[in-house]
Amino acid sequence: MAGFKTLDDIGAVSGKRVLVRVDLNVPVADGKVTDATRIERIAPTIAELSKKGAKVILLAHFGRPKDGPSAEFSLEPIARATAEVLGRPVGFAADCIGDKAAEGVAAMKDGDVLLLENTRFYKAEEKNDPAFTEKLAANGDIYVNDAFSAAHRAHASTEGLAHRLPAYAGRTMQAELDALEKGLGNPVRPVVAIVGGAKVSTKIDLLMNLVRKVDALVIGGGMANTFLAARGTDVGKSLCEHDLAPTAKQIMIEAAEAGCAIILPADGVVAKEFKAGAKSETVAIEAVPADGMILDVGEKTVQSVNDWIDRAATLVWNGPLGAFEIEPFDRATVAAAMHAAARTKAGKLVSVAGGGDTVAALNHAGVADDFTYVSTAGGAFLEWMEGKPLPGVEVLKR
Ligand code: 3PG
Ligand code: MG
Repeated sequence: MAGFKTLDDIGAVSGKRVLVRVDLNVPVADGKVTDATRIERIAPTIAELSKKGAKVILLAHFGRPKDGPSAEFSLEPIARATAEVLGRPVGFAADCIGDKAAEGVAAMKDGDVLLLENTRFYKAEEKNDPAFTEKLAANGDIYVNDAFSAAHRAHASTEGLAHRLPAYAGRTMQAELDALEKGLGNPVRPVVAIVGGAKVSTKIDLLMNLVRKVDALVIGGGMANTFLAARGTDVGKSLCEHDLAPTAKQIMIEAAEAGCAIILPADGVVAKEFKAGAKSETVAIEAVPADGMILDVGEKTVQSVNDWIDRAATLVWNGPLGAFEIEPFDRATVAAAMHAAARTKAGKLVSVAGGGDTVAALNHAGVADDFTYVSTAGGAFLEWMEGKPLPGVEVLKR
């Protein structure tokens, strides 16, 4: 990692208080963490620092609390979950600044791990307020950022602290930046991108950036319908942002100018209603019935996507090809994901995936572990794909 200071550069940390920004914004249902991936990802950094005798003080946000402290957005249950996942004690302090934080830190022994309460209980966090940053910094000698997935936020704990203390990228941040560099920064060509999901409106910047960077762009999911409609294909009752037809056309023009192939569905799985087990049929994309909804791409399209994956040296994937949450509309996503995973395992493909539903889709396909890298980032991954500088990453550059 030439561009960033990492734990390799941190020097002796024994007895030092290391503030580690992590992302513990994990999904919770009925008081239980339903996906612990983000917690698992921070384990290496915590273990490494603790083993070297640092006092490891974790800073994190949880949810988007509006009015100060509340039980709903407390990190206390997440501290327990983190202890379980890491298989080691994780202390908790009921405030991220002030006396409670200071007392918690003062009681730490070398190698201990302590989680401080939700930084977003203070408005000043999101304002990146220097006075608040100062209060956070009072509990640390060194700052490590291991939260790529929060790096699109210029907050006190994700950006401000790096100006205030010696700052380093944690192991997960480092792995993420390495993977992203391989995906789009400096990829082996040809590069193919698969972009799916419901709407074009949330991905305009992303598509505009991608067509300039990749050799082929596969568009699937509901957003493909907007492109199909823009070029004159009748998509029946499918989800479609008709008002974005000019934008879709513009993206296709830019792609043509940049020499980027755009691959739109050649066939679709259509149904009259969107529910599990709904009666569905596969039709050519020109033959979608007036009362039909396209809920997945068809086999012919999957074949063409897989052919593009075969030609690719690098694959960047964001968003499912169909409504994968409901069977049988998960088929294309699963088939293409399995194909990409097999190519990756065979050493023929560098595959990087992330953003929103993508991880859930790959987990559903059972292949998340076989990709080169699967990012746990949502918004940060999208902003990276849009080519935007991420404040939490920029500030770590040498
Ligand atoms: C995420 O869950 O995407 C990150 O933790 C950032 O959370 P935010 O979107 O509330 O800033
Ligand atoms: Mg988000």
